[in-house]
Amino acid sequence: MFTNVPFPAIFIAMSNKKRVFSGIQPSGDLHIGNYLGAIVNWVRGQDAHDNIFCIVDLHAITVPQDPNKLKANTMELAKVLLASGIDPKKSTLFVQSERPEHSEMAWILNCFTRMGELKKMIQYKQKSGLDVNLHVLRQFVQEKIREELVKNYKLPSQEGPFDGLKMELTIQKQLDQIVNKGLVDDILDGVIDKLEGVSTVGLFDYPVLMAGDILLYDTEEVPVGEDQKQHVEIARDIAQRLNKRVGKVVVVPQPVIKKEGARIMSLTDPTKKMSKSDQNENSYVLLRDDAETIRKKFARAVTDSDNKIKFDKEKKPGISNLLNIMSVCTEIPISDLEKKYASSNYGQFKADVAECVIEMLKPIQAKLAEYDKNEDKVRKILADGAEAVAPRAKDTLSRVKKAVGLGL
Ligand code: TYM
Repeated sequence: MFTNVPFPAIFIAMSNKKRVFSGIQPSGDLHIGNYLGAIVNWVRGQDAHDNIFCIVDLHAITVPQDPNKLKANTMELAKVLLASGIDPKKSTLFVQSERPEHSEMAWILNCFTRMGELKKMIQYKQKSGLDVNLHVLRQFVQEKIREELVKNYKLPSQEGPFDGLKMELTIQKQLDQIVNKGLVDDILDGVIDKLEGVSTVGLFDYPVLMAGDILLYDTEEVPVGEDQKQHVEIARDIAQRLNKRVGKVVVVPQPVIKKEGARIMSLTDPTKKMSKSDQNENSYVLLRDDAETIRKKFARAVTDSDNKIKFDKEKKPGISNLLNIMSVCTEIPISDLEKKYASSNYGQFKADVAECVIEMLKPIQAKLAEYDKNEDKVRKILADGAEAVAPRAKDTLSRVKKAVGLGL
């Protein structure tokens, strides 16, 4: 079924550059994972594309936030993006909550999204803690209750062997009754309640808001790190479903994930993604870390013991992560780095990776210091950005509303 809603041919005709949209959350200090996985690709692709970049504060509030900190983090992120090389003459940068069309679009898309699809999202399960295996948890709780009861149950002292066995069977029966009486289910219900209590409807709905961000701007390409691939895919699914039901009204976007940098891992546990929420400060390098801190963090980076600098994600995750980091920083392919370091030891290699990161961050940190003194300039860039994207956002939203049959 196709309606007569005009498709955004104007946008496509206006520019032969591909429309790129991406977002990043203002959720605290930024690390080199965000930079190498996303920001650097935004910066490097600026000339080739028609770019819109968004500070997604509405996504940030899907987990509890201190309001003053959130404001400060939004400013910090804007400064980092500008200092990293996002150029307001080439790209539009704005704050998501400044454009009400995002929330409105998300509501409409909610009605084209299935609960089942959202329940499958890995990030939702991880962030809400609902990725627990209930069967394993049930057995664990039963075992613990049984242990406690056995420990506290007083056996009469002078039982004969036969009576003892009988007594044991009676105790077992009683224990089974207690354990199965619903106590375990009550405990598990409590655990689930707690987990669901922490996780909000917003956290569940997060991918739909993200789909709204992308679809509002007729986005063709979405440069992201590997962890966001599933979210871009659901945006595609929602777009295709909407187009099928009401006529072709939105552009179906593509995720763009660079091989190098797609997944920068923790320095202390290279099987885990580098993340700001990690308790161990040595696991990540912040964009504002000074040279000495960066040297120390890389010197402590976890590796293996065979002293060969080779890329092998499975067998050598630590060294592979460091090669990856160095490759994105220097734009030298990993295979060339392997050759260069064929006869080096880990100590020397780690020190060189640290120096590459320090060099990469030097100009960014210098520009950050300038923006620290001129936050009004940053505010103006963001306000101009929100204004510049308004016509596109309004146009898509009104097209979608018409197609869906809203209003008169
Ligand atoms: P966020 O804020 O978690 O991350 C921003 C970008 O950084 C990438 N990234 C990484 N890449 C490689 N290695 C890492 N360790 C690493 N950590 C983070 C992420 O993949 C991402 O590209 N939901 C999104 C924000 C968003 C968005 C959008 C993105 C909202 N609307 C529309 C694209 C299009 C998020 O939370 O990213």
